Amino acid sequence: MTYVVLMGGPGAGKGTQAKRLQASLGLPQVATGDLFRENLKNNTELGQLARTFMDRGDLVPDEVTVAMVRDRLSRPDCANGVLFDGFPRTIPQAEALDELLHEFGAQVDVVPYIHVHPDLLLQRLAGRWTCRQCGHVYHKLFNPPQQDGVCDLDGSELYQRADDTEETQKRRIDVYFELTAPLLDFYRERGLLAEVDGEQSIDQVQSALIDVIKQAA
Ligand code: AP5
Ligand code: MG
Repeated sequence: MTYVVLMGGPGAGKGTQAKRLQASLGLPQVATGDLFRENLKNNTELGQLARTFMDRGDLVPDEVTVAMVRDRLSRPDCANGVLFDGFPRTIPQAEALDELLHEFGAQVDVVPYIHVHPDLLLQRLAGRWTCRQCGHVYHKLFNPPQQDGVCDLDGSELYQRADDTEETQKRRIDVYFELTAPLLDFYRERGLLAEVDGEQSIDQVQSALIDVIKQAA
C-alpha cells in the first residue's frame, strides 16, 4: 500500500504528473478538482455547490470535500494505494485524511512537493488546455498537442477550464499560499515531505517523483 499526496501550487504540474504516474506506478489518481468538475458536468447537487466556490477560486468547504473523498476511497481500486492530487488543501483536510486512512490500516507514506516559482505558475495556467474526455493536460507552448485543439491520446476536443481566467488564477494562487502552503510544514515535521524541482522538463519531474515515491514504498 502506498498513499502519496502530491503537493504544489495551482499549475505546478500535479495533474500532469498524476496522470503519468498512475500508469507507471499502478495507483489511481484521486483529484478533488477533477471530481468536482465531473459533478458539475453531471449537474449534481454537489457540482452546483462546488461551482460557486470554484468560479471564485476559493476552496470548497472542508466537510463537503472530505465526504466526497471518503466516498471515493471506499471504492476497491483505492485499496492498494492512491495518488492524491489537490487533496488535502487545508490542515483540517490533512487531519481528516489521517483518520480516513487509519480506518483502512494505512497512512500517508510520502508527500512529494513539486516546487515551481509563483511567476511561472501563472504562465503555466494561462496556456493550459485539457482534454474533455480523458483529462490529459497540454500547454500551448510547453507541451503542445500535435494538432491544435485535439487530444493526442483519444482525438477528443481540448478546452480551457472555467476557473482559468486571470482573476481566478491569481485568487487560486493567493488561496494556495494562505491555506495550503502551511501543509508543507505539517508534513515536513512528520518527515514525509520530499521536495522535487518542478521547473525541469515534464519527463525529468516524472522520474524525480518516481524516485522519491519508490524510496518511500
Ligand atoms: P484543482 O483542479 O486542483 O486546481 P489547482 O490546484 O488550481 O491546480 P491545477 O489543476 O490548476 O494545477 P496542476 O498542478 O494540476 O497543474 P497541471 O498539471 O494542470 O482545483 C480547482 C478548484 O477546485 C479549486 O480552486 C477549489 O475551488 C476546488 N478544490 C479542489 N480540491 C479541493 C480541496 N481539496 N478542497 C477544497 N476545494 C478544492 O499543469 C499546468 C500547466 O503546466 C499545463 O498546461 C501543463 O501542460 C504545464 N506543465 C506541467 N508541468 C510542466 C513542466 N514540467 N514544464 C512545463 N510545463 C508544464
Ligand atoms: Mg490539476
